[in-house]
Parts: sequence; C-alpha cells; structure tokens
Amino acid sequence: MPDSLTVIDNRTGERFELPIAYGIYPNYGAYIRGADLKKIKGSPEDFGLLSYDPAFMNTASCKSAVGFIDGDRGILRYRGYPIEQLAEKSDYLETAYLVLKGELPAPSELAAWKHEVTHHTFVHESIKKFMEGFHYDAHPMGVLVSTVAALSTFYPEARDILEPATRWKQVVRLVAKLPTIAAFAYRHSVGMPYVYPDNDLGFAGNFLSMMFKTTQLRYTPNETLERVLNVLFILHADHEQNCSTSAMRAVGSSHADPYVSVAAAAAALYGPLHGGANEQVLRMLVEIGSVDRIPEYIKRVKAGELKLMGFGHRVYKNYDPRARILREMAPQVFDVTGKNPLLDIAVELERIALEDDYFVSRKLYPNVDFYSGIIYQAMGFPVDIFPVLFAIPRVSGWLAQWQEMLEDPEQKIARPRQIYIGHDERDYVPMSDRG
Ligand code: CMC
Repeated sequence: MPDSLTVIDNRTGERFELPIAYGIYPNYGAYIRGADLKKIKGSPEDFGLLSYDPAFMNTASCKSAVGFIDGDRGILRYRGYPIEQLAEKSDYLETAYLVLKGELPAPSELAAWKHEVTHHTFVHESIKKFMEGFHYDAHPMGVLVSTVAALSTFYPEARDILEPATRWKQVVRLVAKLPTIAAFAYRHSVGMPYVYPDNDLGFAGNFLSMMFKTTQLRYTPNETLERVLNVLFILHADHEQNCSTSAMRAVGSSHADPYVSVAAAAAALYGPLHGGANEQVLRMLVEIGSVDRIPEYIKRVKAGELKLMGFGHRVYKNYDPRARILREMAPQVFDVTGKNPLLDIAVELERIALEDDYFVSRKLYPNVDFYSGIIYQAMGFPVDIFPVLFAIPRVSGWLAQWQEMLEDPEQKIARPRQIYIGHDERDYVPMSDRG
C-alpha cells in the first residue's frame, strides 16, 4: 500500500492520489504538499483547491533541523539536545553556537566563538547618538527594534546575504551587539551614562555590568545571578516556527538584510501574546495585588474579560518545560535578592488554574513568561525591559532559522494565498453620483 491519500472530489467524481511524505521521523511530521491540492478542480476554469488555514494552525511552512517541540509531552530540544540538559550544563554562548551551527563546539571552536562575539560587542558611536534621540520614557522594545534596523545602514555589505562569510559576520555582530543596545536603551531611560562593554566578563556578566554598573571601577557580577541569566538566555534561544521566527523567515525570504529582518522579528516578539507576555504577567500580578483577590480575577478570565497572561501556548498542551526549569530555579535567585512578594500570588494563581476546569479542559498551563518576569524583577530589571531580555538570546534562533531558510532550495519568497471575499468587479462611480 503506497503512502498516499486518495481523495474523491464529489463535485466531479474525480479521484486523486496525493502522496504522503515524511520528515525523517515517520510518527512526527507526515505531510501532503499544499500545492498537490491545486490539481483538484471543480471545473476546468477553476483555480484549484486551496487549503485555508488562518494563523497557520496546521500548516508546516518549512523543514527545520534547529529546534524540536512535542507540545503534548512538554518536550523542547535544540539540535536534539534536551533543554533540561542545556540549562544544567551549558552557557548561553555555547548554546547559541549549537543553535547556529548545529553541533556543540569543540574547545577551540568555543574559544574562537567567544572571542569573536566579545570583540563585536561595541556599537558605533553614532548609534549612541541615534539612541539619544528617543524620549526618556520610550519603550525599550521600540528602541531596540529601531536601533537594530538602523544597524543596517552601518553595515551595507550585509545586503550580500548569499555570501556565507558576510552572512556569518552579521550573525556575530547581531549576537554581540543586542545586549549593548538593550543596556544602552535602559541607561538612556533612567538618564544614566552608558557603560561600555567589559571584554573581560562573560556574555551574561557583561550585560549585567552594562545595565547596573555605577561608580565602581570594575563591576563584579554576582555568580548566581550571572548563572541564572545564562539559563534564562538558554531557555529563550529558539522555539521553532513561532510568530517572530516566522516574521524573520518571511522578511528574510525577500532577501532583505539580516538587520531589518531581525528588527521585524523583534517587532513580532514585542506583542503581548508573544514575547511581550512576560511584561504583562508582571503587570497582571501587580493588578491582582494579593492572594485573596485571585478568585475574583479568575472569574473575570473565565467570563472572557481578560486572559491569564503567561498561560497557554499554541503548541504546548502540557507544562512548558521552560516554565518548569524557571519555577525550580527561582529560589536560587531569591536567596540572593530576597523573595519577590509577587511569587506567592503567582504560585497560588498557578495552583488554582491547574485545578480549574476552564484551564484544564483547554490544556492551559504556565508558559515560559509566567515565571521569567518574577525572576527578572527580583534581579533588578525594570518591567518594560523584559521583552528585550527575551530578544537578546532569541536572535540566535532567528539567525539560525534565517540561514537555514536561505540554504533551503525549496524556499522562495514567502507569499501565502487568500480566499477573496470582496466585491466582484464593478464600475467606478463618479463623485457626483455618490450619496
Ligand atoms: N487565558 C485565558 N484563556 C485562554 C488563554 C489565557 N492565557 N489562552 C487561551 N485561552 C483560551 C481561549 O480563549 C480559547 O478558549 P475558547 O476555546 O473557549 O475560545 C482556548 O483557550 C484556546 O485558545 P486559543 O486562543 O485558540 O489559543 P492560541 O493557540 O491561538 O493562543 C496564546 C496561544 C499563547 C496566544 C494564548 O494562549 C494566549 O494569549 N496566552 C496569553 C499570552 C501569553 O502568555 N503568551 C506567551 C506565549 S509563550 C512565549 C512565546 O513563545 O511567545
């Protein structure tokens, strides 16, 4: 029996064989090609059958070897490695290398990669001036999106996206410069002088220095907090075809340069349903205010007035493995920083939600954003920079997927079809005849 789908078009009685193909795992990723539906026509003039899938609920737009999610079982892997092992044993730059290159680096490769990234952390002085143009209360995500797009004008060679060496140079620059831009955005918002990168610190430690250094000659990051930030960055490095990655691939598919493509991806991430949710979770916990007000809030969520931010996921229909790691890691942070008083509200909210039929029947579990914000806040990060903290590591995933897309012979400019539902042809109405 061939692996195929037999389709009978009851409009015409015609019978079609549509081949079923597979990724490399037969029980995961069996598919038919959307283009094969085109030959199914109601009449000879017919355009052919389209598959209609708003929000891509069941459409694979690419083949990818970067990340793997099994949402029913709560599994996330980068390049085959379970997220739990990476969170325990790796650091962000090593994980970024894995995500970008496909393999864990050998010692010499890791040293070279760290050296490359470290030496591209500075931004052009004109970028600093550019950032000074923003209002003091500009949202850091708006600043990040605009500034990353502006990098495109500093590196015009980046348009040569088909040249692997040029492409790699921009990858290094983007991974290296995002923390600097993020920290400058924060320092600008609080009116403090910018702190230049310290090349003797690690990736996460240097970011903490650029954010929080004040009068000390050298900033020494707290070891626990530096490690925790590494883990947070690891957990956010890639998440296969999410909204921002799809934006990266779509914009990149027109052969736009990686800076404007990353800016587009970051813009998609900014939304409260995606990477902006961590900020909204914090605002929600503050609005709830105390444990005794949770039942009232849950009532409003169930009435459809509000969403429980940090809950639910398009793919995970089980506990998000990233949220589990963060929940377990939170006490380490609070040992250093003191407990975030919002934690009690979060834990009780989760307990109630996991027992309530509304959430259970819809398989709504805490996602990565539910606990990340509480940890970020305890570490001293202001709430509106949380989505930026998501963008810093996610750039490695965006760029890995962008490179994969450019090297995939099956990919072309992204261009979905539509089902037209507007007027049929009609004649122009002169102004004098319009009511
Ligand atoms: N609170 C209350 N109800 C919810 C929530 C929520 N957070 N999420 C989904 N639902 C309900 C939704 O109303 C719908 O109910 P019904 O069947 O009665 O209409 C049902 O659950 C299915 O939801 P959906 O909207 O069809 O699910 P989706 O796959 O389109 O949306 C989501 C996924 C993440 C956008 C959504 O769950 C959500 O808005 N969550 C809150 C925002 C959030 O935490 N986002 C971060 C996602 S994880 C980080 C990342 O990778 O971006």
